[in-house]
Amino acid sequence: MNVLLLGSGGREHAMAWRIRKSSYLNNLYIAPGNAGTALLGTNVPIEVTDFDAMKQFALNHDIDMIVVGPEDPLVKGVYDFFRNDEDVCHIAVIGPSKKGAQLEGSKDFAKEFMVRHQIPTARYKTVTLDSIDEGHAFLGSLSSPYVLKADGLAAGKGVLIINDVIEAKQMLAEMLNGKFGQAGNKVVIEEFLSGIECSVFVLTDGRSYKILPVAKDYKRIGVNDTGLNTGGMGAVSPVPFADEVFMEKVRTQIVEPTVEGLRKERIDYKGFIFLGLIRVDGEPKVIEYNVRMGDPETEVVMPLIKSDLLELFIGVTTETLDKKSLVIDDRYATTVVMVSGGYPEAYEKGKKILGVENVLDSIVFHAGTTNINDQVVTAGGRVLAVTSYGSTMQEALDKSYKNIGKICYEKCYFRKDIGFDLLPQ
Ligand code: AMP
Ligand code: GLY
Repeated sequence: MNVLLLGSGGREHAMAWRIRKSSYLNNLYIAPGNAGTALLGTNVPIEVTDFDAMKQFALNHDIDMIVVGPEDPLVKGVYDFFRNDEDVCHIAVIGPSKKGAQLEGSKDFAKEFMVRHQIPTARYKTVTLDSIDEGHAFLGSLSSPYVLKADGLAAGKGVLIINDVIEAKQMLAEMLNGKFGQAGNKVVIEEFLSGIECSVFVLTDGRSYKILPVAKDYKRIGVNDTGLNTGGMGAVSPVPFADEVFMEKVRTQIVEPTVEGLRKERIDYKGFIFLGLIRVDGEPKVIEYNVRMGDPETEVVMPLIKSDLLELFIGVTTETLDKKSLVIDDRYATTVVMVSGGYPEAYEKGKKILGVENVLDSIVFHAGTTNINDQVVTAGGRVLAVTSYGSTMQEALDKSYKNIGKICYEKCYFRKDIGFDLLPQ
């Protein structure tokens, strides 16, 4: 098979790494890719939302399958674009339809979906500028802290957690008046849930599903989960508290009603579902849906999938996923993300990355990297994700940290406490 993978982060490098091992693979192309994906296939300079260029490339290179990494092309309808064009409708797209992608593209759509299918989640109210008074009344019925979410995609910045009710009301008005652009035309006000979070990934063909290894990511820049939110500073899998009892609740109360709900509503969905969950008094609740894999979670999930990924994807496109087996590695995997100093605020790019060749017994996934004159240099906030296996979480983490010590670039930063809340005391 000839595969075109969309995206350019650590998530896509990890997917490319797993796809490269598939016995079904002929050529692998990554658009636009990074310096890491260039080692596993051919990078092509096409933006992930340039569907016309993608179509031309797919026809010229006899592409059989498009695997979508990030949410943007999904929310913009890449699946429907290929499905509805007779020249390219033979090409499989791994990802949901535009309608299905609304689970991530609109928080209000996701909440209504959960209510329709009795999927446990935080109490909420969606308001617009016209109904701001109802928003104030709802805020008055909640206790601090208050959660405000811009309805649309806001590059991970659209969720605010505010302690003071007056400030929450002010922020609500600012959001409805364009603080996050159109994404904030509607705002979802939510009850605050207190608990520990994890990321559950599901692969579905629209009828059946497979639950992939559960991961936990670390979003804050600083130790002990302090400081600004980032795209993710590290991840571990599996997650000890997501034990059999908890996962059975996740399966029956969340995964099955989600897949069944999509089917009943005739929403075409052949791809990944990412459930951002929180455990409250032992019970799982959905914080958010995403319609793609997580980053950096993919950098621990892909290494733990032993099955041929393209065979699973073929099961997705032919609606025979239930006939395919999913074999999971029984070890732990951990990843520690190396970022550019200053991230998630302003940071410099173009720093030479040295020492990756000295890494032993870890996998270095590239995120924000590029090649300039045959030299790998930094090109983003998150630069590399160093993934390791271990028979314990600690062993895997020790390997990641040991190998990080061998890599250097100017103003490198990483968190030294990934997994801190899950390790045995
Ligand atoms: P989201 O973009 O919806 O994942 O929200 C970003 C982060 O905000 C989540 O990972 C949670 O840590 C936090 N969050 C979102 N909604 C809630 C909620 N209802 N209660 C507590 N924390 C929340
Ligand atoms: N790591 C969280 C995300 O990918 O959204």
